[in-house]
Amino acid sequence: MKRTKIILVAGARPNFMKIAPLMREFKKQKKYFNAKLLHTGQHYDVKMSDVFFKELNIPKPDIYLGVGSGSHAEQTAKIMVEFEKVVLKEKPDMVLVVGDVNSTIACSMVASKLHVKVIHVEAGLRSFDRKMPEEINRVLTDSISDYLFVTEESGIENLKNEGVSRKKIHFVGNTMIDTLLYNMDKIDASRILHKLNSQKFSIRQNASTTPIHWRAYSMLTLHRPSNVDHKATMMEIFEIIKYISAKLPIIYPIHPRTRKMMEKHGLLKKFENLKNLIMVEPLGYVDFLFLVKNARFVLTDSGGIQEESTVLKVPCLTMRENTERPVTMTVGTNILVGRNKMKLFREVNNILKNRLVKGRIPKYWDGCAAQRIVKVLKASGK
Ligand code: UD1
Repeated sequence: MKRTKIILVAGARPNFMKIAPLMREFKKQKKYFNAKLLHTGQHYDVKMSDVFFKELNIPKPDIYLGVGSGSHAEQTAKIMVEFEKVVLKEKPDMVLVVGDVNSTIACSMVASKLHVKVIHVEAGLRSFDRKMPEEINRVLTDSISDYLFVTEESGIENLKNEGVSRKKIHFVGNTMIDTLLYNMDKIDASRILHKLNSQKFSIRQNASTTPIHWRAYSMLTLHRPSNVDHKATMMEIFEIIKYISAKLPIIYPIHPRTRKMMEKHGLLKKFENLKNLIMVEPLGYVDFLFLVKNARFVLTDSGGIQEESTVLKVPCLTMRENTERPVTMTVGTNILVGRNKMKLFREVNNILKNRLVKGRIPKYWDGCAAQRIVKVLKASGK
């Protein structure tokens, strides 16, 4: 029997936790699959990439493209040029892409034009906001995929509405949650809170911060262009952070793109000098999830964190006008607040007053999504 040759693509930080359980599952099924891992190098820093491979026990990539940063066109084009050479050489039967980053669309486009089957994990999510680069990546990738693996039921509806045949759509759950559940013991054993209190981790040297206690701090992440690319929106965010930090400390692992923007707008010092805002370098997976799990609430504009906080039952205030992950609102703990100060302050005060957190775990977010995906691919024979 011929083994199915498959290339799994990972490029940016949020891809790595989605790929880890799939690599494990394909390894278990190596009688049927010859799986190779390709890293495009979209994210390349130790803190944005290497640390995740180590912590999540992801095997060293078989192929590394090393494309690095650039404008969207440059980055996408560089990945395409390099990936085409790989596909021509390796001749895979299938290419598997995850999520919505530039590596996702670049590699699926190359594979599709070379008549290689495309598998999209995390298909069907829609914010209906075409100003988000990720939305363009999602719509385009789904339109050329042969297998569309969906994390939540809204994805099935969205794909059907776009004319995707129901036969191609498989509701399997969430591989990012596979990783979260698989690593829970390691996460619980993290010493990061202790380290932060010793202030060794703080970027600021003169941090005049009160000690951070379990459930008595909030977590912040920010990197969306709509929030961080303009000085005026950054100033709005500054006011919001100032208000919250007067109530409880905020831990903020800063994304490289946000740091660059703060520097560009001359705002870095202003943020750094804010009392009770603990700015740290991007954290590893285990430490980051420990801090989310034990936070009073999370303030974010990320996609994945809306899902992780739902499973951890931690209130999540999302600083966006929309979400492509509606189940985190209808079933989980997520509330959209945008940059609406009044709404945000009201929700923060509600959370601080009420100790009870509502929210259930969405269907199939049970740690078995990768297993379901590999089962579907095995059954299809190719
Ligand atoms: C990308 C994804 C986004 C995802 C995010 C998570 C796209 C379109 N966007 O956005 O969906 O939520 O990753 O992090 O693919 N940089 C570094 N070191 C790195 C990586 C990037 O310094 O290891 C800098 C780059 O120089 C660049 C900036 O960060 O200026 C942005 O990187 P890029 O990969 O283009 O996109 P993200 O904004 O990180």
